[in-house]
Amino acid sequence: MENLIDKIRRHEARCGIIGLGYVGLPLALEFARAGFRVTGIDVDRGKVDAIMAGRSYVVDVSDAEIAEQVAAGRLMATSDFAAIAELDTVNICVPTPLRKTKDPDLTFVVSAVNEIRRHLRRGQLVILESTTYPGTTEEVVLPALEASGLQVGRDFCLAFSPERIDPGNPQFNTRNIPKVVGGVTPACTEMAAALYAECVDQVIPVSSTRVAEMVKLLENTFRSVNIGLVNEIALMSHALGVDVWEVIDAAKTKPFGFMAFYPGPGLGGHCIPIDPFYLSWKAKMNGFEPRFIELAGHINESMPRFVVEKITDALNRHKKSVRGSRVHILGVAYKAGVNDIRESPALNVMKILTDKGAMLSYSDPYIPAIREEGLCLDSLPQKNGWLANIDCVVVLTAHREFDYGSVVESAPLVVDTRNALQGYRGENIVRL
Ligand SMILES: NC(=O)c1ccc[n+]([C@@H]2O[C@H](COP(=O)([O-])OP(=O)(O)OC[C@H]3O[C@@H](n4cnc5c(N)ncnc54)[C@H](O)[C@@H]3O)[C@@H](O)[C@H]2O)c1
Repeated sequence: MENLIDKIRRHEARCGIIGLGYVGLPLALEFARAGFRVTGIDVDRGKVDAIMAGRSYVVDVSDAEIAEQVAAGRLMATSDFAAIAELDTVNICVPTPLRKTKDPDLTFVVSAVNEIRRHLRRGQLVILESTTYPGTTEEVVLPALEASGLQVGRDFCLAFSPERIDPGNPQFNTRNIPKVVGGVTPACTEMAAALYAECVDQVIPVSSTRVAEMVKLLENTFRSVNIGLVNEIALMSHALGVDVWEVIDAAKTKPFGFMAFYPGPGLGGHCIPIDPFYLSWKAKMNGFEPRFIELAGHINESMPRFVVEKITDALNRHKKSVRGSRVHILGVAYKAGVNDIRESPALNVMKILTDKGAMLSYSDPYIPAIREEGLCLDSLPQKNGWLANIDCVVVLTAHREFDYGSVVESAPLVVDTRNALQGYRGENIVRL
């Protein structure tokens, strides 16, 4: 294994990334920019072809960044797992969704690990980056890799390092977010830390894979619970006739001991609504009944219905029923500035409205079409008269690209769940 650490320091190690999505593609580019030769492996041939053609499908990555690394021979993509045999390091960045029962679905991790085992050889470093419950690396990945006959620490290294990127965040990226690393053995931690040290600004070694796995779940549970809390405060404020946004704006002037979280139509994306349930599942398997995670989950999941209640009440005041009303959704991505609709609360809000008989349309510069949850809609461009004949506009994602002034001017009713209309006044505005 000593040979590998030298190769890493000389940037001669061949790096591989399995899973080239929101996490894997930026990581592959970071390794390539550091001077490593990187092979990305993905089962999605569309992504492989896009990379080889210098085309990006991730908001934070430009076509030029990919094209530059491909042209320099530092980045290539393939769907052929035989490429693993040529690699010195392999980072696994595949999805970790939940089943309908809210149990972890490790199918993608298991399938990637089985491919690695088929091609594993002495002197390789394997790092799991997919978010998962504490114990996955040692209970699931390690036995699968050791079934090859090779032994961890002696023949190959294995570590866990959570990915902490925040898509659409212009300030923090793969390079400047500190990288937490925990190996199965101290030598594994050292090896993984050495690799990341070449391409990220700061590496934080921890004592085990379990700690590294739990770090990510603490971070995302912290967000889920605090968003659940502020959503409950929003529901309470509604009952008390208080403007929750004004309360938060004033509270956040406290220079210590308070961190602002904002209410909204619910949680979305591949992380916050999902990851805490990985922890909750594992805790239950060990006889511990987690309460905060479940409670926050209930409150956050109730928000789409609350939004629909707000829309219903607003239309009612205009002597209209939801059935037959034309409701236009502004923004369906799970958050501003991203082209990701996974788990977006907009899908729930739209499904409930459709079930109630509303006639839906939407605009989202990042999501050209929706073909899921029984919805089949194309994004309407924002042009003159785009809101003519609409009974109610609902802001679900506060993209900067929207012309909120014209929305307030032309829509008879606007339900704003994101405080996007802060600063606008009008009888037609209803806030969450
Ligand atoms: N998206 C985020 O903001 C974010 C942030 C931090 C951590 N994470 C975690 O990182 C992991 C990946 O998330 P993502 O958002 O990049 O997912 P993604 O769906 O964008 O990308 C995953 C990629 O893996 C590919 N894939 C699936 N199975 C494969 C297999 N067996 N072999 C090769 N490729 C395979 C898919 O085709 C896809 O391109 C998840 O565990 C997620 O929780 C995501």
